[in-house]
Amino acid sequence: MNNQVSEHQGKRIVIGITGASGSIYGVRLVETLLDLQYTVHLIVSNAGWRVLKEELGWNVTDREGALNEQFGGRPGSLVYHPFTDIGASIASGSYLVDAMIIMPCSMGTLSAVAHGSSDNLMARAADVMMKEGRPLILVPRETPLHAIHLENMLKLARLGVKMIPAMPAFYFHPKTLDDIVLFLVGKVLDSLRIEHQLFTRWGDSDADTGHQDNHNRKN
Ligand SMILES: Cc1cc2nc3c(=O)[nH]c(=O)nc-3n(C[C@H](O)[C@H](O)[C@H](O)COP(=O)(O)O)c2cc1C
Repeated sequence: MNNQVSEHQGKRIVIGITGASGSIYGVRLVETLLDLQYTVHLIVSNAGWRVLKEELGWNVTDREGALNEQFGGRPGSLVYHPFTDIGASIASGSYLVDAMIIMPCSMGTLSAVAHGSSDNLMARAADVMMKEGRPLILVPRETPLHAIHLENMLKLARLGVKMIPAMPAFYFHPKTLDDIVLFLVGKVLDSLRIEHQLFTRWGDSDADTGHQDNHNRKN
């Protein structure tokens, strides 16, 4: 058991898991933030539960039980909010949170956020982040993308919403599926300036010599 108090203790991050493929991304993100002692407010859409069942084999008939089984025993706190609970704390701008990440983000939720529709807690919580000028990150997942998807992303990017599409990189020589998943989780944490060691950075092998080869820096 880790008794050390982390600098992140008491900080609140909202995580949304939608019905886009790649629910493992959201699961690893929740685990990582709980391990850093964040308080994670979790929303899972109805389609998100369906994909957790299809892709990860979760028993979704007992949702609270499934969350306890996956996330229980970690040092941070997990607060689960039902998708329809538009009266939840995080539905109000007066409740302070540090950031919100929707990972993975379906094209349906992307559209709801881009159009300011707030008829479920996922879209409402994202809308609150935008109206309060707080960090909002979306990790969209679909392929191919049509013009409406791209327009929605552009619209949100112009409003300051960070787009981190689920596009893996291979320059760090991933060996496992988890390496690929954690790379994306790490990119989300980088965007929030949260320190981590989830992947080996390009150029890190030069660190000992103090040589910074910015020419070769990759994204
Ligand atoms: C197994 C599975 C995989 C899916 N993958 C995607 C996907 O990658 N991207 C996407 O936009 N929708 C995907 N969908 C469809 C969405 O789940 C669907 O549009 C849903 O209405 C989205 O609702 P939500 O945004 O409330 O989660 C998938 C559905 C299933 C069952």
